[in-house]
Amino acid sequence: MSVVLELIDITKSFSQGDLEIVAIKGINLTLKKAEMIALIGPSGSGKTTLLQIAGLLDSASSGQVIINDIDSSKANDVTRTEIRKNNIGFIYQFHHLLPEFSALENVAMPLLIQGKTRDVAFAAAKKILEEVELADRVNHKPAELSGGQQQRVAIARAVVSRPSLILADEPTGNLDSELSEKVFSLLQRLVKNYQIGCLVVTHNITLAKKADRILSIKDGKIS
Ligand SMILES: Nc1ncnc2c1ncn2[C@@H]1O[C@H](COP(=O)(O)OP(=O)(O)O)[C@@H](O)[C@H]1O
Ligand SMILES: [Mg+2]
Repeated sequence: MSVVLELIDITKSFSQGDLEIVAIKGINLTLKKAEMIALIGPSGSGKTTLLQIAGLLDSASSGQVIINDIDSSKANDVTRTEIRKNNIGFIYQFHHLLPEFSALENVAMPLLIQGKTRDVAFAAAKKILEEVELADRVNHKPAELSGGQQQRVAIARAVVSRPSLILADEPTGNLDSELSEKVFSLLQRLVKNYQIGCLVVTHNITLAKKADRILSIKDGKIS
């Protein structure tokens, strides 16, 4: 089974008073293990909405989201949370790290939430922080790290639970071009090493071209 994410005929509407905004207008997508797809498109085209739906953080108005052969369409909230926790890592434009906790604690968090023991969680967090070349920063809090380091911690946190799927929404959007390149390459290396399927939104066309495939989204449709 090499398909990690399948989106079938996804639509999404938001109602705002009397107004209906159709944000996603019938999107189909298949993402395989170890594959990186770059999602590009203008602001407001539906990229974030699509990622939220693929990550089960929001529901589609119609269509199916299949993650590792599990059809989430008819699952209740408890099951959706379970699927998310066990299969998906998220990375955002702003690191979303918890300010009160060290890099090590932030990275260990997904495993602690999964119910792993502290020993197991911290050992795995340490190992992955070494892999993103932050071994000497494990005890630093987010505010004591540079922007690039913060994003590397966020990547480590997304990967630590060995998800089969990573959803990244403009992960380098807040970094200069040199750092963007480094952070993107790091993400790509982890995706290949751990055989993760990755859907990454980016405005940086140079980076998008490094992905296995580019999908261009416009006005809620893949063009
Ligand atoms: N919660 C919401 N309520 C109403 N409209 C929304 C909501 N989220 C997104 N939209 C609308 O859906 C469209 C797609 O937004 P979004 O997915 O954020 O685009 P992108 O990430 O490509 O910039 C936009 O027109 C946006 O205004
Ligand atoms: Mg967006």
